[in-house]
Amino acid sequence: PPLHTLLNLDEIEAAAKTQISKKCWAYYFSAADDLHSKALNNLAYRNILLRPRVFVDVTKASTATTLLGHPASTPLYVSPAAMARLAHPDGEAGIARGVARFGAMQLVSHNASMTPEQIVADAAPGQLFGWQLYVQTNRAKSEAMLARVARLRDRYRCVVLTLDAPVPSKREHDERAGIEAQLVVQSARPPPPDAAGLQEEETKKEKPDANSGVGKQLFFGTAADLTWETTLPWLAAHTDLPIVLKGIQTHEDAYLAARYARRHPGTVRGIILSNHGGRSLDTAPPAVHTLLEIRKYCPEVFDTIEVWVDGGIRRGTDVVKALCLGAKAVGVGRAALWGLGAGGWQGVDRTFDILQGEIETCMRMLGVKDLSELGPRFINTRMVERD
Ligand code: FNR
Repeated sequence: PPLHTLLNLDEIEAAAKTQISKKCWAYYFSAADDLHSKALNNLAYRNILLRPRVFVDVTKASTATTLLGHPASTPLYVSPAAMARLAHPDGEAGIARGVARFGAMQLVSHNASMTPEQIVADAAPGQLFGWQLYVQTNRAKSEAMLARVARLRDRYRCVVLTLDAPVPSKREHDERAGIEAQLVVQSARPPPPDAAGLQEEETKKEKPDANSGVGKQLFFGTAADLTWETTLPWLAAHTDLPIVLKGIQTHEDAYLAARYARRHPGTVRGIILSNHGGRSLDTAPPAVHTLLEIRKYCPEVFDTIEVWVDGGIRRGTDVVKALCLGAKAVGVGRAALWGLGAGGWQGVDRTFDILQGEIETCMRMLGVKDLSELGPRFINTRMVERD
């Protein structure tokens, strides 16, 4: 269907499903075990109610903000997600083009299907990017990538260190697609090209197991021995960029990140509350719960480092609710990929157009002209705090 006929993110996801390969759909859609965290990520937002105020002149509403000190015209950003070219040849560069007019920051995955240079090649000056790192067991490989990103430092403004996936999880949709592809290979000679596995960057990774899904194949080589004491000093020695820790899921770890930031200025500047879109540990908490914990036990974290969140964003109201709870920025993972699958860079543009419009409508309905006004007085969290 033409993109302008798609009115919300669910419709874009449904359109993408008809355009992309089964294997791509299974990889993007999948989450760990029973998909409880994936579902809860969105349900948590739906269970927060808004508290609109009246008699406010809302002729205009601005979503301008700053991310790590850089001006941004929206609090929305693109979460790092692997292998965009599985969905569309525009790939990660297409995501960059699609978000350009919204001024949204794009975090580029360690497992992107294009090089860091290619992705930013056509970006407008001032367009914001960050680069996401999975530390490799072979640290020299990670150090080489950090050096490469450092050479693009007028583009990549932060290094995002992902911590919530120290070991591969069980994503059955993805694994089943791998198994089915393998069965096709076994029953046909020569194998059809589609069944031969990932076409992009094929040679870069060794496959651990012919039956595994895309996720397990990409995971190969990732280190499981990261610690506060060893990893952050190592990382700070290999990058001058601000560090953002992704995959924080408890107030204890948020507190430790803020404490580290205070003790080591110029290193950790932000955290991302995320359960990896429900893809790592099933029944791990949605960002909403972690935000509420931080507000209760260590609210000073919000004054020390920037707190970003991702997971389950389907509507502008979801974004506004996260901001009311103290998030500085809100990321979308699958939504950007579905947009890309539905219509290349224009599909991403359409996705962000919808979300941005919904954010502005929500703000004005609430009686809010500027993001800085948002706070807990605009929401009722009783339903999510019951447990
Ligand atoms: C991801 N995510 C992810 N995170 C990360 O730090 N590095 C990565 O390479 C990837 N890869 C990846 C691939 C795919 C297909 C998905 C869907 C997700 C997690 C991502 O950054 C983010 O945390 C979630 O996607 C947010 O949830 P939603 O927006 O997808 O619900």
